[in-house]
Formats: sequence, C-alpha cells, structure tokens
Amino acid sequence: MVKVITYGTFDLLHYGHRRLLERAKALGDYLIVGVTSDDYDKTRGKINNQQPLMERIAAVKELGIADEIIVEEYEGQKIDDIRRYGVDIFTVGSDWEGYFDYLNEYCKVIYLPRTEGVSSTEVRSEKRKLTIGVVGTTVFRTKFIKESQYVNGVNVVGVYASEPGDVASVQDVFYTDQYDDLLAKVDAVYVISKPEMHYQHVKKALESGKHVLCESPVAYTRKQCEELYELASSKGLILMDAIKTAYATAYERLLLLAKGGKIGKIISVDAVCTSLRDGITIEDADLSKKWNSMCGWAPAAMLPVFQILGTDYTKKLFFTKFQDREENMDAFTKVDFVYPSAVATIKVAKGAKAEGELVIAGTEGYIYVPAPWWKTDYFEVRYENQEDNKRFFYQLEGEGIRYEIVAFAKAIESGRNLSYVPEEISTAIAGVIEDFNARKDMIEIE
Ligand code: CTP
Repeated sequence: MVKVITYGTFDLLHYGHRRLLERAKALGDYLIVGVTSDDYDKTRGKINNQQPLMERIAAVKELGIADEIIVEEYEGQKIDDIRRYGVDIFTVGSDWEGYFDYLNEYCKVIYLPRTEGVSSTEVRSEKRKLTIGVVGTTVFRTKFIKESQYVNGVNVVGVYASEPGDVASVQDVFYTDQYDDLLAKVDAVYVISKPEMHYQHVKKALESGKHVLCESPVAYTRKQCEELYELASSKGLILMDAIKTAYATAYERLLLLAKGGKIGKIISVDAVCTSLRDGITIEDADLSKKWNSMCGWAPAAMLPVFQILGTDYTKKLFFTKFQDREENMDAFTKVDFVYPSAVATIKVAKGAKAEGELVIAGTEGYIYVPAPWWKTDYFEVRYENQEDNKRFFYQLEGEGIRYEIVAFAKAIESGRNLSYVPEEISTAIAGVIEDFNARKDMIEIE
C-alpha cells in the first residue's frame, strides 16, 4: 500500500484545496492530511485564518478524500510523521517548490501544480473589505500602515494630520488636513493624534458612524472615556484601546500562567518602560507629537498591573520629575499602586533610562520578562529551586500590531468587542492620566 501525506491550513476550503487533495490521493492508496493547528500557524506568521482548527478539519473531512486527518503542531513534525506512519510520498502544492526537498531523505517528494486563480487569502480579502483612516502624525503611523498590509482585506486608505509628513511617499494613501474629508472616505479610524485630542477625534468618528481603534489613553478623563464607550455601544460601533502588548502571544500566555496560580499568590507587579530615542518633543501645531512619558508609556506599563491585580487599587502615588512642568512634560514618573494584598509599581520615562523589564512576584515563584518586555516573545517562570525554572518563547511578528488589527477587523465583522484591553482597564488608565494631569497624590522631584 502506497501511503501519501500532505499538509495545509485549508482555511475557507476552496476548489484549489479540493483539486490538490484529489491529485494527492491519486498518487497512492492511502492519504493522510495534516491540518495545521491555530498556534502553529500563528508561529509561522499565518495570522489571518478565519476558521479555527476544528472547523478546518471538519471541512477537509467532509470532502471524503482523506483516509486519515492529523494535526500539525510543530516545526519538524513532518519528519516525525513520515517515520511514524510509514509514508511513501510527501506532496504539496507547487508554491512550495524546492522548500521540502530535504524530505527526500525520508520519502519521495512530489510538488503538484497549484490551481491558478484561487487562494484562501483571496477568499478572505473578498469577504472582508475594511478601509481605515489614520488620524495623526508620528513615526508609528508608518509602522501601522505597513503592518496593516499583513491583514487580509484591510486597507489603510488615508491620513488626516496637520502636515503630510512622509504620507506622500506611501502608495495609495491620500493625505488630508480636514477630518471630515477622511471620515467620509473610511469605515474606521486609527487614532494616534496627541492624547489631549483623542476624546474629540474619537467622539467625532463615532458620531459619524465609524469604528475606532485608539492609542491609549482613549481620553484624558475617566468620565470622557466612559462616555465614549457608551456612545460606541449605543451606536453598535467598535471602540478598541490600541495597547499592542496585549496582543503579543507571549504576553497572553504569561498572564494565563500568572492568573492560573503558577507562581502562587501574586504579591507584586513591577513594570518599567523607558525610551530616550523618542525624546520629548513639544510641537503644538502638530496633531500628535506631544506625548509625555505618562501618555507615551504608562498605559502599556499599567496593562499587566490592572490585568493581574484588577483596577480597584486602594491608593496610588506619583513620583514625577518634570522636564517642562508648564507643558506637562514629565521626564520620569514612578507610580505606586496599593491593593489590599498586593502592590505594584510602574516606572516610565522619556528623559531617563532604566532596564525595561517586567517582574511578577508570587508566593511560590516569579515571572521574569526581559527588556523590552512590552514587545515580548520570551519569558521565564523562576522558582527557588532553579531546576524547576521554565522558559517560554512565542514568535512575535510586527510587535503585536498586526494581531491587533486582525482583532479589530474581526470585532467589526462579528459586531462583538474582541479587544484584549477590556473597557474597564482602558477607563482606569484614563483615570490615572486624569489624576496625573491634576497632580493628585503626586510627589515632585527636582
Ligand atoms: N493549493 C493549491 N492551489 C491553490 C491553493 C492551495 O494547490 N489555489 C494547495 C497548496 O499548495 C497546499 C494546500 O493546497 O499544498 C493547502 O494550502 P493552504 O496554504 O491551506 O491554502 P492557500 O489557499 O494557499 O492559503 P493562503 O492564501 O492562506 O496562503
């Protein structure tokens, strides 16, 4: 009996898949189909799958071509499978020509011509057509536009800012200095204007029926933030807080481990985020350059604190060194949060440098995330007995931005808020920024 094996994602199963499987089956007597797991696809940069593993398996099964279906979960599994199942022929579409030649050592490798004119990517892009406009000018804007290109069916079509900057050089993206003009031409906006303008930009977008992905803080006061979320929900629109760290797989996993009791009861969370590179620029005319240390970094730093310990802290105290007090520009701020049975500290700076690590301490061990923890792909769970230590690595593409855009697009499609930054946390962050701006509970250092 000649055994044949092939692998694929088979998302939104199409004619090209069926033809591939029919020809694969015809190569022998018994066909094994390996369907990639969601996690494995994520690690190899396939972030757009619309169907979860079980649905993709069910679709392949329904074709009735495969004799056996297995799940492909890790790099290097193919060799294991070929040995384990006694496979004679490995086959895959010609888009992989040459890539699997190394398997010749274990079995025969055949590349079958790919069916022209159809792919899961195209089917997904047809299903989803979402146009996004960007509000504001920063270096980050370019990153966002670039990252959006990895998300099927999402197109950044325009930018509203007080000056064009480098927009002119981006193909197919128009520039306007009129917000109404942008809003008239898009389904959704990504707001990265200067923080004190978020409220008005978000509000106007929602009032115009547009979905919003907004950099944190979403507003300058807790009340305004709540108002925006209420407005979004009353209009059936998505409003998402854009803290990209929330979408990094490693970060998600460490949260689960911490909350699942892996290090016992959590006693403290310490997060540090600094960057001298962005400097502290004050350019009033511009829509977005005015980000102090608190707005630029504290939302990301507060994320693990609030996700692990909750937002009901009993006390908080700011320690701030201003570079320009009038302009509310802090060079360095440390914030202590006190909870009934835990404490947390964040240190953020654009005018000072420190090790950008995250440490979550528990009664049985601690989680250590090396710098820069906010774009983390790696962390360690450490114990008193070093032999028990565990290291975790999860591939991170594009600092989490593309996963965030996928979540935003999916939320819009499904009408459900799939934000990884819960509304309650987004609002609590706005509340902390509000108190900082009011110099409430603040000790200033010279
Ligand atoms: N395939 C094919 N003809 C197509 C599309 C896919 O022969 N038009 C083959 C691939 O070469 C592979 C298998 O079907 O052997 C599974 O491919 P998969 O990556 O799941 O499908 P794609 O449509 O290529 O998906 P994507 O657009 O996400 O890359």
